[in-house]
Amino acid sequence: MRIFQFAFFLVTVVIARYPNVEAAKILGVFPTTSVSHYIVGSTLMKELAKKGHEVTVISPFPQKKPLENYRDITTTQIWKAVEPFTSSFLNHIGKGPIETILRIYYFGQLITNSTLNDPAVEKFINSNENFDLVILEAFMTDAMLGFAHHFNAPCIGMSTFGASKWTTDLVGTPAPPSYVPNPFLAFTDHMSFKERLINTVMGVTEALVVRFIDQPVQSEIYQKAFPDPKPPLSELKKTAVSAVLLNNHFSTSYPRPYVTGMIEVGGMHINRNPKSLPADIQSFMDNATDGVIYFSMGSNIKSKDLPPAKRDAFLNVFSKLKQKVLWKWEDENLPSKPDNVRIQSWWPQDDILAHPNMRVFITHGGLLSTTEALYHGVPVIGIPVFGDQYLNMAKAERGGYGLSVPYLEISEEHLFTAINAMLGDIKYKQNAQVISQRYRDQPQAPLDLAVFWVEYVIRHNGAKHIRTASMDLSFVQYHNLDVLAILLGVPLLVFHLSARFLCRKKSIKPSRNDDRKKRN
Ligand SMILES: *[C@@H]1O[C@H](CO)[C@@H](O)[C@H](O)[C@H]1NC(C)=O
Repeated sequence: MRIFQFAFFLVTVVIARYPNVEAAKILGVFPTTSVSHYIVGSTLMKELAKKGHEVTVISPFPQKKPLENYRDITTTQIWKAVEPFTSSFLNHIGKGPIETILRIYYFGQLITNSTLNDPAVEKFINSNENFDLVILEAFMTDAMLGFAHHFNAPCIGMSTFGASKWTTDLVGTPAPPSYVPNPFLAFTDHMSFKERLINTVMGVTEALVVRFIDQPVQSEIYQKAFPDPKPPLSELKKTAVSAVLLNNHFSTSYPRPYVTGMIEVGGMHINRNPKSLPADIQSFMDNATDGVIYFSMGSNIKSKDLPPAKRDAFLNVFSKLKQKVLWKWEDENLPSKPDNVRIQSWWPQDDILAHPNMRVFITHGGLLSTTEALYHGVPVIGIPVFGDQYLNMAKAERGGYGLSVPYLEISEEHLFTAINAMLGDIKYKQNAQVISQRYRDQPQAPLDLAVFWVEYVIRHNGAKHIRTASMDLSFVQYHNLDVLAILLGVPLLVFHLSARFLCRKKSIKPSRNDDRKKRN
């Protein structure tokens, strides 16, 4: 009897504390071949698996060791499909923003098409499984909204990028071009007249590209990939997504408006409990009494692809420094490598940046890298190459924790000047540390916040009550152009009519004069 009572008590307590103990079936789709994008997505999926949800993940990165509650559906064809695109990053530097927009949407189409055409994914789509929620990386992958319709499940969009057209449009977040810079421009939130003009033209161009170039292609991919693509893709874009988790935080970027369903979880992938470094790296960094410089161009760009002249510029500068250097170099050998430089194809970046001897991070300016640098309070020298990297570096320069060295201007002299400027002036590190303190000052760790919203959307059957009415408005209605037309049009009409009336009155008088003249 007492045992029953106790068991009953236990069950009551557990249920009362966790009103939603059921394990949900969650599908995560993180199709991009950039490991940085996958890291953000898989961090959330692994946490959900740890919480007891049954997680399925479509991505090109399978787990090395099996994880409890975590199932991989591994895409393999995508590598070949995107290879010509990713290997040519460095050849497209310096191209105009319009070409950048066209290229990046084309990249999205490649990712979407090759993922949905992958045999593993085709088999999965035809498997009649059920899901309670779809978490979809929103990265110009609109056709994949078909998963939400196919499984009749609510959908959360996840941005591994900052806020961009392809995430704000899913929930109706406003992006006034007067102070929200387009992610493909190196502007800040304070823009001159000329910059506002360019920013606005850029926004309009992007909207036209999406509407007339990207959407037809995505729609075709969607129609082909799913067995019952009844609602048009344009309708899914307006109805399928309940919330967007955004890889951004106001302390590391700019304050701006969001709708309720757009939630900042920037840097949720950052390990809040640093692991200890491998012993050899630890002692290398501990012994660097003049500090350590860490150089990595991220996961997409390989520094071994740098042209010899630029590579030599780095080598020559590093050989002149007292600091020790860790270089993400993707080859066994680096000819004429100075003694103070260590190379490795992959570094535990987060834990390296956490080391107290860390002085300068030389980066391509990708969002994960700059966010990690800010979390650890490390100033950056950026060599932006693609996408939002220019924007991130413009932010770093404006925030006083970074310096840009344009890729086309890489030279021994230019690098040497930038590195010495940063080593010689404490203000860069101080600025990075002030932002670090603001960034860490949050009521809830971003990963916990993301998990909360995932479970919230499941608990409330898609949480349609947070969907803003803006999603139901046409362009004309949203911008109130019809109302403005009346407000401006009626006074104009009145003015026009009265002007005509007065003119007619006046024009009658001269005609009389004329008559008189004629008579005289
Ligand atoms: C998608 O890929 C298939 C081949 O896998 C190709 O036949 C088709 O044209 C592609 N569709 C688009 C819209 O790129």
